[in-house]
Parts: sequence; C-alpha cells; structure tokens
Amino acid sequence: MKPIISVINNKGGTAKTTTVINTGEALSRLGKRVLIIDMDNQCNATDILQDGIGRPLVKSLYDVLDPRRSNESTDIESCIYPTVKEGLHFIPNIPDSAILGPRIVLGGEPALFLLRERVRNYALNNFDFTFIDCPPNVDVFVISAMIASDLVIVPTMAGSKFSLNGLVKTKAFIDDIGNRYNSDLKFLKLLITMVRQPYINL
Ligand SMILES: Nc1ncnc2c1ncn2[C@@H]1O[C@H](COP(=O)(O)OP(=O)(O)OP(=O)(O)O)[C@@H](O)[C@H]1O
Ligand SMILES: [Mg+2]
Repeated sequence: MKPIISVINNKGGTAKTTTVINTGEALSRLGKRVLIIDMDNQCNATDILQDGIGRPLVKSLYDVLDPRRSNESTDIESCIYPTVKEGLHFIPNIPDSAILGPRIVLGGEPALFLLRERVRNYALNNFDFTFIDCPPNVDVFVISAMIASDLVIVPTMAGSKFSLNGLVKTKAFIDDIGNRYNSDLKFLKLLITMVRQPYINL
C-alpha cells in the first residue's frame, strides 16, 4: 500500500503541519518517495518546503483544484516541486486559493472529488507516501482531502478538555465523510504532539 494520508484537526495549532513535514522528511531519509500537499491557504508547509529550492513556484494547489478547469487540462506533474531533501516533493499552496472554497461549494458534490480525480492516481503511481496538510477547520478543502485519502491522522494536544471536545467532533466528522463519500477511509491514529501544563481545570 502507498497510502494517501490526511492530517486533520479542526482545532488550530495542534502540530498538523509539523507532523506532515517531519514525518515526510523522516520517510524520505529512509529512501521513500514522499509527496506533501499543502491544502491550507495559510501556506505554512509551503513556506518551509520551498526554502532553498532555487526556482519560483509558478503553479500550485490553485491550478490543481480549480473547478473551472477540466480534469484533462490539469497537468498535475507541473504542480509538483522537489524540495532540497532527496525524495521529498510538494504541491505548494497560495493565499488566493481561498477563492476556490466558494467555487467548490457552488460546484456541488462533484467538485469535492476534484482532488481525488486529479491527484490520487498520480500520487499512487509515483510516491510511497502522500501527506495532505489540512487547515484547522472542517471546510470543503478538508472534505476534499479526506475523499482523496486512505487514512487520517489527527494530531492533538493532551491534557486539555477543549482538545478532547474537538477530537470527539473530528472523529464524528471522519465517520460522516467516510460513510457518505469514501468507504475505504480509515482513522489511523490519534497522535499526541503536545501535553498541556494544567493551570486551571480545563
Ligand atoms: N511537539 C511540539 N512541542 C512544542 N511545540 C510544537 C510541537 N509541535 C509543533 N510545535 C509548534 O507549535 C506551533 C504550531 O504547530 P503547527 O503549525 O505544526 O500546527 P498546525 O496544527 O499546523 O497549526 P494550524 O492549525 O494553524 O495549521 C508551531 O510554532 C510549532 O513549531
Ligand atoms: Mg498547519
């Protein structure tokens, strides 16, 4: 199996991007070919991965996900860039891709499958692992990522009631999307990335 893995949590700052970058880089050091898709228009993963690559980012997730394009006119290969780490590649994001959210909503359910239709086969044929770094919410970008994925990892902070509440909602969300759109989707791991020092009983 060459899994496509969405890294999600609707809570912000739980180390989704850190998990994607570090796990991806560690796997590339083991000789694996890894693709990271930056699905978050905060572009944090892009900022890190573009460092030192020595060429401008001309194409991005915008070109991959635009519902106004046809599947045939989407050249996925031209949207993938190598990083300075051997074997580690990425699809960058740009802040303007925020406009694609409403376009995907207006495109209805078929538009939610664009990432799967345009990226999945290429990723399975060319990479050992694909990680999708998701934004901290449950919007159409996250739904699109989960429809394109085999597995979901949820990085979370331990020791916080707020995190636990968010986790319960996130798990229900994964089940809903799996049941409705992608019956192969599996919840792989809850990943504790930080432990909150309690100062009040929350
Ligand atoms: N294990 C850790 N211990 C301490 N700090 C961490 C750890 N992992 C990540 N951080 C820091 O926490 C901050 C948030 O991490 P990160 O950006 O990966 O979270 P995120 O879930 O992707 O955030 P967002 O929801 O905004 O996308 C960063 O400053 C990161 O360096
Ligand atoms: Mg992030």
